[in-house]
Amino acid sequence: MADLELTDDVPSAAADGVWLVCIECGETFAPFEEIRYTCDHCDGLLEVRYADLPKFEAFEGEGSGVWRYHAALPFDVGVTLPEGNTPLHEVPRIEESAGVENLRVKHEGMNPTGSFKDRGMTVGVRVAQEVGVDRLACASTGNTSAALAAYGARAGLETLVLLPAGKVAAGKIAQAALHQARILEVDGNFDQCLDRVQDLAGRGEAYLLNSLNPFRLEGQKTIGLEIMEEHYADHGEYPDRIVLPVGNAGNTAALYKCFRELVAAGAITEDQVPKLTGAQAEGAAPMVEAIEEGYDETRRWDEVETRATAIRIGNPVNAPKALPGIRETGGTAVAVSDEEITEAQRELAGEGVGVEPASAASIAGLHKLRERGDIDADESVVCLTTGHLLKDPDAAAEAGAEPEPVSNDTDAILAHLEDGSSSATGTVGQTVSNAAKSPLGILAGGLGIAYLLRKLRSKE
Ligand code: F0G
Repeated sequence: MADLELTDDVPSAAADGVWLVCIECGETFAPFEEIRYTCDHCDGLLEVRYADLPKFEAFEGEGSGVWRYHAALPFDVGVTLPEGNTPLHEVPRIEESAGVENLRVKHEGMNPTGSFKDRGMTVGVRVAQEVGVDRLACASTGNTSAALAAYGARAGLETLVLLPAGKVAAGKIAQAALHQARILEVDGNFDQCLDRVQDLAGRGEAYLLNSLNPFRLEGQKTIGLEIMEEHYADHGEYPDRIVLPVGNAGNTAALYKCFRELVAAGAITEDQVPKLTGAQAEGAAPMVEAIEEGYDETRRWDEVETRATAIRIGNPVNAPKALPGIRETGGTAVAVSDEEITEAQRELAGEGVGVEPASAASIAGLHKLRERGDIDADESVVCLTTGHLLKDPDAAAEAGAEPEPVSNDTDAILAHLEDGSSSATGTVGQTVSNAAKSPLGILAGGLGIAYLLRKLRSKE
């Protein structure tokens, strides 16, 4: 079983009070001397540890967003665009429909490339500079590749991204393409892409920047720091629970680390730690299965499917860090259907918060857990929304209202409005791109026709 306890012992491997530890066998390593992603001895996951853990007062100095928290990070500043400082929205209508005392939505889609991955990359690409590599790589369901491409470009480093062919939303491919990553479309799913990129990294061909890289999670733990600070400032208390979408379980692991460090620093007490609650799509729910069945580890799902392509993942590599996080904080995990995800996406959009499908799994999960009585009405809940609406324009167009063709004539438009009819027959000229197409295809346009055909077909 993973040992996630933070101790005071500083090993000789530490450099400037920072080291790596294997969570399985306890072996310690110098942080930047050699490149490694897992333990040399037992292949266990690694975690970054610090000699000094800060309390909230330590964050009052210089720096904003992720780098406001540099006292809790291995560097004072990273390769920055800048990232973090995302809104903690009030959503009164969803708060009422879910029936909880207090609901806030932390919208990570408001980061520079439109997802929380930027928080990990600002630290991870800084580490890549420190260890001195010239090629970065990741496997991705889309957002990691967009973030790595942008941060790699910022750092002037070559970037390789391995994507499951035909299963990545259009906005994400467009980002990776324009930021000039080399996009390798693999004939396989995300988990197989991750197997391939781990092989490449193992052969020294590229520096791996998936969340298996423990430094990525350091940046992502700042989501938790921002939530805790802002929630306390607004409500005089910390949230009882955080609900988040889960794929590879990196974010769940990062939030748990955030809370363990705050407790070890004496900044909060153990009973102030929010209950970590994961939401997965029904077609890709190995974490939910492990929580429900009481497994120590997740079972790899070879066949996964969901419209929320960002979390179409069957082998969550961070499960050894994330399962204890859910269990130790008194949280839980829940599977939601694609229909429930789309409904939650509409509900968020109705409050002005535009998210991609995977993000809406947190709100869908909240509804389900409230209905089951697993979340109490008097709870104060924060739902994480992880990616921006424009990441997946096809999903947004399908979930949203139909455009209504009208004549170029004011009276006709008024008559149409009075008519109250909103049944559109077609939308020639609208260019919503297609997730399955290549970047070139997207740039060449013409996809409006494919979109129209699909819309018309869906009306049959
Ligand atoms: N939400 C979105 C929008 C994501 O892109 C991801 C992961 C998750 C949730 C799940 O986060 O893996 O930390 O549990 N996307 C990765 C990618 C896998 O390649 O972009 P997790």
